[in-house]
Amino acid sequence: MSSTAAARSILITGANGVLGHAIARMFLDREPGSLVFMGTRAGRDRVDTLLAEHPGRAFALPLEVTSAEAWSQALSQIERHGAPLAVLVNNAGLHDDALLATMSTDQWNHVIAGNLNSVFLGCQAAVNVMMRNRFGRIVNIASLSALHGPAGQTNYAAAKAGVLGLTQSLAKETARMGITVNAIAPAHIEGALPAGWTEEQVKAARLQTPMRRFARPEEIAAAVFFLASADASYITGATLKMDGGLV
Ligand SMILES: NC(=O)c1ccc[n+]([C@@H]2O[C@H](COP(=O)([O-])OP(=O)(O)OC[C@H]3O[C@@H](n4cnc5c(N)ncnc54)[C@H](OP(=O)(O)O)[C@@H]3O)[C@@H](O)[C@H]2O)c1
Repeated sequence: MSSTAAARSILITGANGVLGHAIARMFLDREPGSLVFMGTRAGRDRVDTLLAEHPGRAFALPLEVTSAEAWSQALSQIERHGAPLAVLVNNAGLHDDALLATMSTDQWNHVIAGNLNSVFLGCQAAVNVMMRNRFGRIVNIASLSALHGPAGQTNYAAAKAGVLGLTQSLAKETARMGITVNAIAPAHIEGALPAGWTEEQVKAARLQTPMRRFARPEEIAAAVFFLASADASYITGATLKMDGGLV
């Protein structure tokens, strides 16, 4: 049990990834009163660093986001710490690109499950807790691909566009209960570029971006932090595009 009874709990899924780690670090650094729960699946190295730096405030939580049972267990664990779940950041995600003509049904289902079904399950688990407390902040990490689907990403673009639709509808369902639901649509993130990109592809993508650079993970994390703050209390159902001016 934590000794900080008035603290609020923050849950970030996929916290061992590049962006998830930056988001977790931002909450740990900027909101010293909070308990930060970092959802993990296979990887643990980045999460372990934060656990060591913030003993008693940072927690690793095994959370396979496509499993309703895993969500239920994770939320029970948070409840045992005595600080109500106030913020859920649905960050875990993956892509598995292919042209639709040759995409396998497994590729489609896997990407829809990991990016969209996961957000449904997470939001459902969280709003039931947040409605009791009449307070909550949900931030869903979508992608610019949701707004401008690129070739080769029909599965990912559809899943992330689904996240934006879910965000808008759920925001209306929960607005009167003190719960806001917003989404962020980043373009490429420094340090997390698609595996297999050549130097030329990286260069071309940078040149295409009016700012001539990709987002730093901390820049996206700062937007998440703002949307989770009291200052963002009148923002709900919004999608924040973060692309350095690309579209
Ligand atoms: N990178 C970009 O340029 C970019 C651009 C726009 C949007 N995004 C979105 O930003 C989010 C974070 O991306 P990232 O670049 O930080 O990716 P990343 O470094 O690959 O991290 C993704 C994280 O999600 C976890 N994860 C994936 N599927 C999961 C599942 N079924 N259950 C639990 N955890 C799961 C991974 O866990 P494991 O350690 O087990 O693999 C990993 O920790 C994603 O939603 C992504 O779609 C990224």
